[in-house]
Amino acid sequence: QASERESMYLVSEYANKYFQRTLWESEAGKAIGLTYFKERGFTDETIKRFGLGYSLDQWEAFTKEALKDGYQLEFLEKTGLTIVKGDRKFDRFKGRVMFPIRSMSGRVLGFGGRILTNDKKAAKYLNSPESDIYHKSKVLYGIYHAKQSIAKEDNCYLVEGYTDVIQFSQRGVENVVASSGTALTPEQIRLINRLTKNITVLFDGDAAGLRASLRGIDLILEQGMNVKVCTFPEGEDPDSFAKKTPLEELVRYLQEQSKDFIQFKASLLMREAKGDPIKRASVIGDIVNSIAKIPNRIQREVYIQECSRIMDISEEVLFNTLAQISNKEL
Ligand code: CTP
Ligand code: MN
Ligand code: MN
Ligand code: MN
Ligand code: MN
Repeated sequence: QASERESMYLVSEYANKYFQRTLWESEAGKAIGLTYFKERGFTDETIKRFGLGYSLDQWEAFTKEALKDGYQLEFLEKTGLTIVKGDRKFDRFKGRVMFPIRSMSGRVLGFGGRILTNDKKAAKYLNSPESDIYHKSKVLYGIYHAKQSIAKEDNCYLVEGYTDVIQFSQRGVENVVASSGTALTPEQIRLINRLTKNITVLFDGDAAGLRASLRGIDLILEQGMNVKVCTFPEGEDPDSFAKKTPLEELVRYLQEQSKDFIQFKASLLMREAKGDPIKRASVIGDIVNSIAKIPNRIQREVYIQECSRIMDISEEVLFNTLAQISNKEL
């Protein structure tokens, strides 16, 4: 229902203002939240630009205030901002720094809230639940702030996390969005596809992140887009790397380390397979599978030629494999 969703948008925008006010004006917000963001190297300007906030470490501080200001419990609950148990009400977000998640057009859809400690036992981020206005699989964090720059640069950097987006943007690389730690979806890719045909995926420098993302990337190829990947040194993510790297060097790193995805995958997997013939055969199948996703025939042929070189296999074998895969899919 349109009017219900409208009420949910209004509540979300109210919460966004509330968390920001709490960050800048309350004692706890200033002492804990602002200090946290400053320690991460975020400037006042950046904190305001991304609308970062703070939720008090109390049971129902936000809910009370929202009800007092005339917002209905129904919509507080539907957006997940308030959790209702019997006749008791609790704030979902307590004692967390807050990251509002906006749509392409700038509407606040939900929030991510981060705990302030590095306690390994607690979930680091708590996010708004799925709702009539927040569909995790259809949202890219940062898209509202990045869209102009993505179109202008004709490229989109895709990262994992909220802070990767914010740090990059603060450093002047503004064409960046995050999948927010979930596996990439076709809807998310379509959002980018409206702005550019070129995506550069920036992996966290850990093996897990890399392997998980390899799969999602085939989805980008399927939409006829060009994919590059750029990896970071072990233990670094785009945020930590950007934070300690001068801008010129960062820009140079992104240019020099961005590798065409198919080439990247071919050399990575072939290195892993080494001389093992069974593994090599499965790698060839895997790579050609990716190539088969590309809708454009000429582009497919170019990749077959390149992979033939990288993997030291005749083009004929690769073309035959491609034909087999294509037949199976018909
Ligand atoms: N994420 C999440 N819930 C978690 C962990 C991660 O929703 N418990 C999402 C967040 O959107 C996060 C992204 O996955 O930004 C990437 O996760 P990770 O790399 O672990 O976090 P960072 O963004 O690097 O966060 P930080 O630098 O604050 O530790
Ligand atoms: Mn819906
Ligand atoms: Mn990670
Ligand atoms: Mn990370
Ligand atoms: Mn990080």
